[in-house]
Amino acid sequence: MTIISSCTLTTLKEAAKSLKQGNLVAFPTETVYGLGADATNKDAVARIYDVKGRPTGHPLIVHISSINNLDKWAQQIPEYAITLARTFWPGPMTLILPRTELAKDFITGGQDNVGIRVPSHPLALSLLKELEALGGFGIAAPSANRFGKVSPTSAQAVQEELSEYLTLDDLILDGGPCQIGIESTIIDCTKQTPQILRPGGVTQEQIAEFINLELDKESYTHSNDVKAPGLLESHYSPKAKVFLSGTPQPGDGFLALSSIATPTGAIRLATPVSDKDYARQLYSAFRLADSKKIERIFAVPLENEGIAVAINNRLSKAAHQI
Ligand code: TXA
Ligand code: MG
Repeated sequence: MTIISSCTLTTLKEAAKSLKQGNLVAFPTETVYGLGADATNKDAVARIYDVKGRPTGHPLIVHISSINNLDKWAQQIPEYAITLARTFWPGPMTLILPRTELAKDFITGGQDNVGIRVPSHPLALSLLKELEALGGFGIAAPSANRFGKVSPTSAQAVQEELSEYLTLDDLILDGGPCQIGIESTIIDCTKQTPQILRPGGVTQEQIAEFINLELDKESYTHSNDVKAPGLLESHYSPKAKVFLSGTPQPGDGFLALSSIATPTGAIRLATPVSDKDYARQLYSAFRLADSKKIERIFAVPLENEGIAVAINNRLSKAAHQI
């Protein structure tokens, strides 16, 4: 496995070629780093599951370079989904739509729908365009972490998570730290009304400005809809045990907005100045705790609005509370 730290057009062309040959390329997106494979190559996609240790049958998101390529992968697209795509793509939003022939069972886990996203990170977009120039159609990419663990928000974090599972021909593209820091918002667009399956970088309030969406901030956090397995199990978990209430003891990790003082003896893991900043630093704070061998993290959740809904969702997951 090679890490490419200064990506040029030449290295991106090479990375696209490598994808086309069936290798894996981990790449930055604005949300988290993804572990990419040519979305039409069954063997390459199978390797994603091996490298992540992810149970088969969990569907993958297909990344494409533009809304113009959407109809290659999805059909019977409702009007509201077109509005969402036009408004929030490129960006941190994944739409679940009825699939076309191109989206095989090895992508969708046998479901009749497929998750599609146009990321906004310039390296991700260039990689996608270069792959398309070689005749490719999209990149299947889950977050580039072992199954159930914390998503990586830097190339170093990808390396720590996956290097022992990647081969010499696989690549990691270093695009610096991720701007948003938590995963995309997943919206089920297979029914008459859209439903948020996973809160993320695009907030419910932003979505509701453009389409008719029932604002129900609690519903998905207690959802038992099997379509997005990430919603059901303990996920986004550091090795440390995460607590969302109680007082840390000396030596415990502590995570809260900068306005909240560090309890005596606790080890501050991050000092985010805003909710957005909290999202950006959340996963690296979890990783920092693990690297310091901290056993307990006390994280202070936020008021449940905007991006904080997604942050609280990840905190609850990490704390195994949903
Ligand atoms: O921000 C993101 O979405 C990142 C970056 C790399 O794009 N990707 C990501 O992928 O978070 P992953 O696989 O770690 O999480 C995607 C979630 C999984 O829980 C998966 O089950 C769900 O999306 N999902 C994917 N396709 C689906 C589908 N067709 N129907 C329902 N859920 C789906
Ligand atoms: Mg993931």
